Amino acid sequence: MDGTLDRTARAGAPRSAANLSPAARARLEEQAGVLLGHDADATFAQAPGVMTAKASNYVSTEQFEAEKRLIFRRIPLVLAASCELPNPGDFKTVEVAGIPVLLVRSRDGSIHALLNSCTHRGAALAAGCGSAARFTCPYHGWTFAQDGALLGVSSPGDFGAIDKLALGLKRFPVAERSGLIWVILDPDSPHQPADLLAGIDDMVAAFGLESWTFVESRALPGPNWKLAFDAHLEFYHVPVLHRETFGPDRSNRAFYFAQGPHQRVIAPRGRPGVAARDDLYALGRVPAASEPVDPLLIGEWILFPAVSINTFYPNGQRGVLLSIVLPGPEVSQSVTIQTFLAESPPDAQTRKEMGDLCAFLGKVVGEEDLPTSAFQQKVFATGLMPEVQYGRNEGGLQHFHGWIARLLQASDAELPAILASPCRQQ
Ligand code: FES
Ligand SMILES: [Fe+2]
Repeated sequence: MDGTLDRTARAGAPRSAANLSPAARARLEEQAGVLLGHDADATFAQAPGVMTAKASNYVSTEQFEAEKRLIFRRIPLVLAASCELPNPGDFKTVEVAGIPVLLVRSRDGSIHALLNSCTHRGAALAAGCGSAARFTCPYHGWTFAQDGALLGVSSPGDFGAIDKLALGLKRFPVAERSGLIWVILDPDSPHQPADLLAGIDDMVAAFGLESWTFVESRALPGPNWKLAFDAHLEFYHVPVLHRETFGPDRSNRAFYFAQGPHQRVIAPRGRPGVAARDDLYALGRVPAASEPVDPLLIGEWILFPAVSINTFYPNGQRGVLLSIVLPGPEVSQSVTIQTFLAESPPDAQTRKEMGDLCAFLGKVVGEEDLPTSAFQQKVFATGLMPEVQYGRNEGGLQHFHGWIARLLQASDAELPAILASPCRQQ
């Protein structure tokens, strides 16, 4: 298990460059070259055809049960950024499709992903997030260590003999890589998260997220997780649905680059708000190895199944919005957790502007995207709208839904090989 935070990676060199493997850098350079080529030629990449899919994929209980079993309990999920739990004892709770998870950083710096359910009779050990030296169950008072070990039973003489070693909290495979915490929600998974990341962690490493600062987060309830996430996978809707917030002048086009099931979604030249130092199009060439790597990172990063990383520049400081869409207990429920991280600890003015930006992005998603998705959910449930269309300009959606179908067919043994062979698209 890879649970130790590497806090030493970057003495000397610019952090992001030092974090990047030669293979990941080459891949980023290749993608930058493709983008610049399209920019120079004023061309635009499209998927080969329009894809039609069953609308029932969004509302079928059977489909949802298969996704829970074969995707959400097999594929490593990003459940937090490392900087949400910077210190020993820091914890965060999160629920995925009804599975309550407790993430804890223990004294030695390693991260544990535990089932947030007491082994006496199942009560929740923690709620929200915070810091704790140990966890005491609020029902009858059993106590557990940061790594899930059962420390103590209330009135042990009255309770009777038990095997304390066997009654620790259930542990999930967890890995902390590239400043993100990845968990497989199956204690008996034959795989470790690192085996199933398709190399996307190596690419995201360039952000150096492990040294960033948590600013704030919010949870937005929504409909089926795929409907909630579809809006992250194309920019076709942006100047229309978001004309009052982002404005009507944004491009509705996007370039897509796949890395296994993961993707980058990148607007053509002209997306407003990109800081000059990060703007590949303004640079007009692939940066040299000696130059900052940041222009290679533009665009929205999609971590399968349903996480996105978007960069913003409140008060000129780089920040990212980490959006984690998680299925709820029912097919028609999800939650989008928006978490804002700052590259450098924000001063008062930057913190204020980040707060304003967080509120704005919460409004865009919570009052524009998610109500639209909720309406789709309602009409699909009637069965009167049997199909949906993913256009040639919506290659990200085609890729996402294609991978869902593929993973629902794949055996456990096949997973590492499937995920190790990135399928490209651009
Ligand atoms: S359920 Fe936790 S102590 Fe009883
Ligand atoms: Fe949107």
